[in-house]
Amino acid sequence: MRDVEDVVKDNWDKYSSEYDKCIISGEKHWKNYFYPRIAKINVKDKEILDIGCGNGHIVRILKDYKRYVGIDLSEKLIEIARKRFGDRGEFYVMDAGALEFDDESFDIVFCLMVIHNAPNFEDLVKGCFRVLRRNGLFVVIENHPCFNPPNRERLDKDTTVIKEYRKEGVYKHRMNSTIPYFHRTLQTILNEFSKYGKLEKFEEIYEDNRTISNFIFMIWRKC
Ligand SMILES: C[S@@+](CC[C@H](N)C(=O)[O-])C[C@H]1O[C@@H](n2cnc3c(N)ncnc32)[C@H](O)[C@@H]1O
Repeated sequence: MRDVEDVVKDNWDKYSSEYDKCIISGEKHWKNYFYPRIAKINVKDKEILDIGCGNGHIVRILKDYKRYVGIDLSEKLIEIARKRFGDRGEFYVMDAGALEFDDESFDIVFCLMVIHNAPNFEDLVKGCFRVLRRNGLFVVIENHPCFNPPNRERLDKDTTVIKEYRKEGVYKHRMNSTIPYFHRTLQTILNEFSKYGKLEKFEEIYEDNRTISNFIFMIWRKC
């Protein structure tokens, strides 16, 4: 597993400046679909953990929180996050599959567009629920595994051909083919989270009024 994680880390180190520029210049999925949903979550006086935080940009839209901690595998991204947002939170290089925090030390965990990048999905989910306090929220945004998997072919905005949906494993990333993309079925994802939490919200996000959803937005509550 360590080897795959090293590949993920090295690739995100390489891609860090490009990703940072893209997000800071107002990447449209974030601006139009993700920020408005995250901004509705009440974070007042809460302790927040953002796993796979990238450059830490979501801290910009969180208001009145008590503590924000961002972790990422990529040293370069954590360096950028500290420079950009070090006055608003703490940032650490850490593996989301081996969190170095005490049990029940956060009220909210964010996991935004990370699952498809993470080789150690089961450890990640288990660890995030471990560090959440009882009734804490685990907030997830991810590519829709059914309609936006790595192995799909888009014919037009409302027509997508899905290939080998059931075949879980490592694929090439469409945006950057050197970053491994871990495909898991919706069934695998939901079953893993259900071991530890209760699904409070499940939304399929439809971009530009398309009839096919590209992203899922989930809020799980720790039981
Ligand atoms: C697509 S980026 C998303 C970054 C940020 N959450 C956002 O939405 O802008 C995926 C991030 O997950 C990080 N990542 C992948 N696997 C990880 C792991 N096991 N532990 C910590 N970070 C991880 C990558 O380094 C990368 O920064």
